[in-house]
Amino acid sequence: MSTTRASDPVADAPTRVVLGVAGGIAAYKAAELLRRFTESGHDVTVVPTAAALEFVGAPTWAALSGKPVHTRVWDDVHEVPHVRLGREADLVVVAPATADFLARATHGRADDLLTSTLLTARCPVVLAPAMHTEMWEHPATVANVATLRDRGVVVLEPASGRLTGADTGKGRLPDPSEIFEACLDLLARSAAVDPADLSGRTDLAGRHVVVSAGGTREHLDPVRFLGNASSGKQGYALARAAAARGARVTLVAANTALADPAGVDVVPVVSTADLRDAVLTAAKEADAVVMAAAPADFRPLAHSSTKIKKRADGTVDPVHLEQNPDVLATLAHDRARSGQVVVGFAAETGDETGTVLELGRAKLARKGCDLLVVNDVGGGAVFGADDNEAVILAADGTEVLVPRAAKRVLAHAIWDQVSLRMDS
Ligand code: CTP
Repeated sequence: MSTTRASDPVADAPTRVVLGVAGGIAAYKAAELLRRFTESGHDVTVVPTAAALEFVGAPTWAALSGKPVHTRVWDDVHEVPHVRLGREADLVVVAPATADFLARATHGRADDLLTSTLLTARCPVVLAPAMHTEMWEHPATVANVATLRDRGVVVLEPASGRLTGADTGKGRLPDPSEIFEACLDLLARSAAVDPADLSGRTDLAGRHVVVSAGGTREHLDPVRFLGNASSGKQGYALARAAAARGARVTLVAANTALADPAGVDVVPVVSTADLRDAVLTAAKEADAVVMAAAPADFRPLAHSSTKIKKRADGTVDPVHLEQNPDVLATLAHDRARSGQVVVGFAAETGDETGTVLELGRAKLARKGCDLLVVNDVGGGAVFGADDNEAVILAADGTEVLVPRAAKRVLAHAIWDQVSLRMDS
C-alpha cells in the first residue's frame, strides 16, 4: 500500500483577469461577473468589443472595474496594450462570447483589442457563449468550438431557457456566479499543471463523465418524505471541476438548492429509483461515474397519493420499508463500458469492528468500485459545509490524503485519480 498527500492547487490569491465582453444582449450580465471578481480582490481589466459597447457603454465598465476601458488597439499605443494585457493576464474570460467572436477567435484574427489579447495570452482562457440556438448549433459554430477546445480553451456549454425574444432553447449565458466558479476552478487547475502544457489543463477534454449529487427523497405522501441532509455541494464541486478540465458533464442532482454549474447538463431527480435510472442511462456513454449522492437506502412499501390525515383516536399506521437498489454496486458490477472508472463515497465514523479506513477498505471491496472517497464524519462536520477532507482509497491499494480545504480541492484530487485510471 502506498500513501501520498494531495497538494492544494487552489489559486484564490489575487489574479490579473481580462474580462472580454462581446456584442450580445447578455453583455449586461458581465457586469455581475465583473463585480464577483473585483469584490473577491482580483484585478480586472474589461475589454469590450465595439459591438458590446452598443449594449453596455464604457462608463459602466470603467466605473465597476476602476480602470479605463479600451476597445481598439489604437488607444494608449505607447503602452502596447494589445501585447501587454494578454502577456500579463492570469486568466482571460469572455462573457458573453458571440458566434462572431468564436469565429474570430478560432481564426486567430487580431482586428480589435480583445482578439489581439487572446493571441498574446498564454494563461487559461474561458469562453462563455451566448447566442440563439440556431447559431450555436450551426456547423460553423460547432466546428469553431471544437477547434478552440482542441487548443485547450474552456468553452462552456450555454444554458437552456428563455432567449432574447419569445423563443426558448439552448444558448443562454450561464449564471454569472457559475461562470465565476468555473473561472476559479480553471485557475485552481492551471496552478497544478505545467504552465507550458496548455492542453494539460483540459485533461478531460473529449471525455464524458457522470456525477450524482444531493440526497434522494422517498415520499410517504405528496408532502412527506424520508430524506437526508446531503447538500450536494461536493457533487457540484466535482461537476464544476470536471467541466473546467474540459469534460462533458452530466450531473444527476437529487433535491439540491444549488444553481446549475455553468456548462453542465443537469438532470433533476427525486427518489433513489429516479436517480438509478438517470445515472445508469447516462453511464452507458460515460468514461467515469462518480457517486457523490446520498441515495436513501430504504423506501416506504406503500405510497399514498393523497395527504395522510391525523386520526381522532391518535392511532398511527406503521411505516413499512423496503430496500432500494444499490446504484454504485450495480454500476461497478455491470460495467456499461470497459475501462469506465467508477467512484464511490463513504461517510464513516469507525466502530468496534474497525477504524474509518478499515471500514472504507471493506466497503471498497464490497462495492467493487475503482476508487472510494472516505470521509470521517465522526464529528458530523461534512454535511452542508464548504470544505472537506478525505482519503481517496483505490482498488490497487494506493491512498491519497486530501487535507481539509475547499470542496473544489478534493474534487480536483478525485479527478486526478480518475484521470490516471482512464483508458488512453
Ligand atoms: N449508494 C448507492 N446506492 C444506494 C446507497 C448508496 O449508489 N442505495 C452509493 C453512494 O452514492 C456512495 C456509496 O454508495 O457513493 C456509499 O454509500 P453508503 O451509504 O456509505 O454505503 P452502504 O452500502 O449503504 O453502507 P452502510 O451500510 O455503511 O451505510
